[in-house]
Amino acid sequence: MSQRTKIKALLQSQQTDIDVTVKGWVRAFRSNRFIALNDGSTNNNIQIVVDFENTDPALLKRITVGAAISVSGKLIASLGKGQTVEVIAANIDILGDSDPEKYPIQPKKHSLEFLRENAHLRFRTSTFGSIFRLRNSLAFAVHQFFQERGFVYLHTPVITQSDAEGAGEAFHVTNFDLNNIPKTDTGEVDYKQDFFGTSTNLTVSGQLEGELGAMALSDIYTFGPTFRAENSNTTRHLAEFWMIEPEVAFNDLDDNMDLAEDMLKYVIKYALDKNPDDIEFLTQRLQEEEKQKPQNERSEMSLLEKLQFCLDNDFERLTYTEAIDILKESTPNKKKKFQYPIEGWGTDLQSEHERYLVEKHFKKPVILTDYPKAIKAFYMRQNEPDAQGRETVRAMDILFPGIGEIVGGSQREERLDKLEQRMDEMGIPKDELWWYLDTRRFGACEHAGFGLGFERLVLFVTGMGNIRDVIPFPRFPKNAEF
Ligand code: 4AD
Ligand code: MG
Repeated sequence: MSQRTKIKALLQSQQTDIDVTVKGWVRAFRSNRFIALNDGSTNNNIQIVVDFENTDPALLKRITVGAAISVSGKLIASLGKGQTVEVIAANIDILGDSDPEKYPIQPKKHSLEFLRENAHLRFRTSTFGSIFRLRNSLAFAVHQFFQERGFVYLHTPVITQSDAEGAGEAFHVTNFDLNNIPKTDTGEVDYKQDFFGTSTNLTVSGQLEGELGAMALSDIYTFGPTFRAENSNTTRHLAEFWMIEPEVAFNDLDDNMDLAEDMLKYVIKYALDKNPDDIEFLTQRLQEEEKQKPQNERSEMSLLEKLQFCLDNDFERLTYTEAIDILKESTPNKKKKFQYPIEGWGTDLQSEHERYLVEKHFKKPVILTDYPKAIKAFYMRQNEPDAQGRETVRAMDILFPGIGEIVGGSQREERLDKLEQRMDEMGIPKDELWWYLDTRRFGACEHAGFGLGFERLVLFVTGMGNIRDVIPFPRFPKNAEF
């Protein structure tokens, strides 16, 4: 077996006139002479120069787009434009042929829809190579951020009995024979006979279990897949997505906001430092795409500028009530341009409202706090009603340009009586969550946490427009292929 050098290392090599072996997939082969070879270590290809006059024509024919090849030869300073080094091939082995008539990925621009249908091969395009290298860096940066701060990475269960968000969007988990489901005398599904002896589902959030950890380890975070059966066919929703959920004892909502803002800036900075080539490539890609749009719809900043801007500016912090006042007075609201006009206090914000606040009004990331109690989850800490008797909770949502909600979190209700009362009001079964309530019975304390939708972060950093393009194999209504 020969030692191979990765293309990224070759392209950065200070040494030339050395013998090297390189392996990868052919991106293009032109004039029977120049192979563009890529191995995924970087979005840049290395050029292989073939001495075609002295190469077996049968071998030349097998150098096709998509073929896996191994090349040994000399790394030299390149004379041509566009690359600093290239490899003069001494020997080429075909490792895996690729029939050019049948290989779906051609050296031309494919639509993102087409590539989604060929998600098993889309890694081999420059765009998806860059996206998944960035996704990797961001995931690593998340761990590094929390590890540097002494957080404990806690693995919360994927199969649970509870629907933490109480939104009723959980996928059932069962090993019943679906054609012969055991029923009780009264005709209900008899979960006692199911695998776990109870009804179970895939987790929608690790938060409740995360809180248990925080009530002893102080600072924890989860980072795992979560599942929601919401039937939303949007560019921002997946049925399976990855969530990062820190939970911190003794933190209040202000600490929570600081933590979230620090984390977002840290991981974005990490990606900028670690993957400059990928960001540069995606910045250009977005610029090309924007050229198709009319002038007034193009964004003012490039991807790179947007990311830098996010690092350089404090996020705007305001309450839901203040936001409603701004929206009520806004031009689109007055001109009836919103699909959902802002009439009064108390309704949830639609993405058109969030985007107005972030993209038009403040022109930077925004943290909204203190939402109406009625539209938020049971576990959020209740505020005293305001002068007009309006009831709010210590919630926070972070809104990002082009994305909308990227983070949702809150300070938690640590007072047992208030929590139980809220669960009763919302019909959340206290007996099923006895273990959660125990943390309020024994050593309860102020604490707070949030959930970051990892794919929404990757969307922001890559500048892509559809969440299905930033996770390797997206799950969404009517699709679970690959
Ligand atoms: O706002 P959510 O529902 O909050 C929670 O689940 C809390 N338990 C978090 C916590 O406080 N520990 O979801 C958190 C984030 C959202 O802000 C969004 O970024 C992302 O998760 N998210 C989704 N991402 C992709 N597809 C979906 N269907 C998503 N639903 C939520
Ligand atoms: Mg939310």
